[in-house]
Amino acid sequence: MKIISIINQKGGVGKTTTVINLAAGLALQKKKVLVIDLDPQGNATTGLGLSNLEDSSETIYGVLNGTKSLPEVIKHTEFKNLDIITSNVDLSGLEAETAGDNERAFILKVKLTAFINDSRASYDYMLIDCPPSLSLLTVMALVTSHSLVVPLQTEFFALEGLTQLMKTIERIKVSLNPKLKIRGILLTMYDKRNKLSSQVEKEARDYFKEKVYLTIIPRNVRLSEAPSHGMPVLIYDKSCLGSKSYFSFTDEFINQEQLIGGDA
Ligand SMILES: Nc1ncnc2c1ncn2[C@@H]1O[C@H](COP(=O)(O)OP(=O)(O)OP(=O)(O)O)[C@@H](O)[C@H]1O
Ligand SMILES: [Mg+2]
Repeated sequence: MKIISIINQKGGVGKTTTVINLAAGLALQKKKVLVIDLDPQGNATTGLGLSNLEDSSETIYGVLNGTKSLPEVIKHTEFKNLDIITSNVDLSGLEAETAGDNERAFILKVKLTAFINDSRASYDYMLIDCPPSLSLLTVMALVTSHSLVVPLQTEFFALEGLTQLMKTIERIKVSLNPKLKIRGILLTMYDKRNKLSSQVEKEARDYFKEKVYLTIIPRNVRLSEAPSHGMPVLIYDKSCLGSKSYFSFTDEFINQEQLIGGDA
């Protein structure tokens, strides 16, 4: 079982879109996937057709505050092989509520490790959707994950935020999670008519080399429509350009396991 966070403290770069569609792509390839919505906005929750307005004890918040066990809050989506632990706005209170707890960065890891050691856990992948910040929730995800996928919007300022993220990842590696790997950087919202997109691509590839996925996610209106229907775009409109790019990303994501070994 691989635990992978989709992470970038910058808002609106395509984290949730990537979580939803990578999860759907893997599930269509018969992998069992659990999405963990770790963002109080609950966008992965609604984007996969569930509600982010229900009782918060039924969400990841209920697990993290000790009200519920992890298996109790796993929900099926209407898509085969694809389950989710939902989130809602109450999750934003966790940071303040755990202020006195020195071990709080490890709460998620402890819960997930216990779940994985339990024979009922049979997922191939757990994908964690992170909030747009470097707050406790993001640190929890970094501590818990085997590896990371970083969506990078091909726009001005995108790379600036990335330097800060890389520093945070290094800090977590040194102190809390030495095995953490960056699986790859995914260029998103690429507009081939805009020169800036190709400039950001070039800079990213020059600097991060083969860490940048070959697949590029284009700006595509179907990708932004799909969440309002509670569906991955791969199911909403499987032949649009956005879907083609996420199908291709899923293949690249799976194939890289042969290159980087099974532990990422
Ligand atoms: N490739 C794309 N083309 C067009 N629209 C996109 C694309 N990717 C994402 N979007 C849209 O852009 C917005 C932001 O995307 P998304 O929610 O995936 O980003 P995020 O990084 O999860 O945001 P946040 O930081 O708020 O959690 C959404 O409305 C989404 O539907
Ligand atoms: Mg999001």
